[in-house]
Amino acid sequence: MTRASIELGDVTPHNIKQLKKLNTVVFPVTYNDKFYIDVLDAGELAKLAYYNDIVVGAVCCRIDTSENQRRLYIMTLGCLYPYRRLGIGSVMVNHILSYVEKDGNFDSIFLHVQVNNESAIEFYKKFGFEIVETKKHYYKRIEPADAHVLEKNLKNLKNCDSSGIVANHSNDASKQNGIDSTASSHSQLDGRA
Ligand SMILES: CC(C)(COP(=O)(O)OP(=O)(O)OC[C@H]1O[C@@H](n2cnc3c(N)ncnc32)[C@H](O)[C@@H]1OP(=O)(O)O)[C@@H](O)C(=O)NCCC(=O)NCCS
Repeated sequence: MTRASIELGDVTPHNIKQLKKLNTVVFPVTYNDKFYIDVLDAGELAKLAYYNDIVVGAVCCRIDTSENQRRLYIMTLGCLYPYRRLGIGSVMVNHILSYVEKDGNFDSIFLHVQVNNESAIEFYKKFGFEIVETKKHYYKRIEPADAHVLEKNLKNLKNCDSSGIVANHSNDASKQNGIDSTASSHSQLDGRA
């Protein structure tokens, strides 16, 4: 038997609908039109994951220059439920880690996860991410509404104080990150593991 293949491919106008569909199934929040417009220009920072030529996962990131730092923000990284624990998430994170390593000029990588998303927290801890902050009421339409900020520090001498790397975002922090606060959540979704 041949081994399964896991490959990453570009997001293009031809497959952006697949990305939308995947995100709708995997995440309990919806992302606004701007999110998908920006993703088309994201180059290596937005990728679809293929398992034996089938789209089963995706990662979308952007560069964040707030707080006087240059950080990579993982907006979404997810894999369809039946394809989890096969290494697909790892391939996507490793792609992002090699991107920031090649660039050499990022202070950290960070993301938000719902506080009850234990699988994602375990997953990211494996790659050296730590919980550095918990934001109350980060999500508008889903429960629990609180989010952990997970961060992987890339500059050892900087960010010594890991207690509050993202100080007081505005109340609409989730909206700034492309989450469509007007859309209702999807109750049947896998993303809230
Ligand atoms: C988090 C997520 C992306 C992991 O993807 P995945 O393809 O299953 O991850 P991998 O197979 O590469 O797992 C790598 C390691 O992470 C850890 N891990 C992953 N899922 C885990 C779980 N449910 N429980 C405990 N550890 C887990 C394990 O150490 C695993 O290695 P192992 O399988 O050899 O034990 C996936 O669960 C997912 O899509 N979740 C929904 C979306 C989401 O919450 N994304 C995070 C916010 S952006």
